[in-house]
Amino acid sequence: MELYLDTADVSSIRKWNDILRIDGVTTNPSILAKEKEDYLKVIAEISEILSDNQILFMQVVATSYEDILKEARQIAKLRKKNMYVKIPVTPDGLKAIKVLHEEGIGILATAIYSAPQAFLAAKNGADYLAPYVNRMENYGDGIEEVLTLQAMLGNANMDTKIIAASFKNVNQVKQLIAGGIAAVTVPVDVLSNMVLHPGTAIAVEEFSESWKKRFDEDKIRFE
Ligand code: G3P
Repeated sequence: MELYLDTADVSSIRKWNDILRIDGVTTNPSILAKEKEDYLKVIAEISEILSDNQILFMQVVATSYEDILKEARQIAKLRKKNMYVKIPVTPDGLKAIKVLHEEGIGILATAIYSAPQAFLAAKNGADYLAPYVNRMENYGDGIEEVLTLQAMLGNANMDTKIIAASFKNVNQVKQLIAGGIAAVTVPVDVLSNMVLHPGTAIAVEEFSESWKKRFDEDKIRFE
């Protein structure tokens, strides 16, 4: 199971990449537009934080077939390996995915709102499919739709991975991991809520207090 950070905030990426075993970082135009630095500089900084084996995703901004192809080919060259291109599943995007897949460019089909739509992107050669779980809740049951997509891919013997995206709470992430999803990309606030629990903080404080009271120390002494 793969875990990605859905952010372009360099300090958060550095922090969570140190704490957790993450598989890479996903960005999109809105995420990059939030940063103060120029987007190419931000992408370069993220790339430096990540190892060659971690994947970095950058999305095309162009919307026409020809321009999507041009941007995707340039994005793919931004790193020596593991630089994947995100392409929204519009008709122009799907057409581009078909061609770019033939060229060997790693592709994540994004802005997915339904299982059938995602299935067609997989058929065209996308390596990853990003259904927008929380946004899909506006049209039905987002979790159920993603699990249906997973069953469709399995029944069709397709090895395209689902990278579930657009999470707003830990419970959504939990339900999809429990459902056996291949990958999730999680925003920093949701990831932070997955890690931090008040119960853990209270338990650790109790341990420290017991130790301090009995030994007047805040660490273990070995001699
Ligand atoms: O990669 C961005 C995708 O996860 C969408 O997230 O929060 O804009 O619905 P959001």
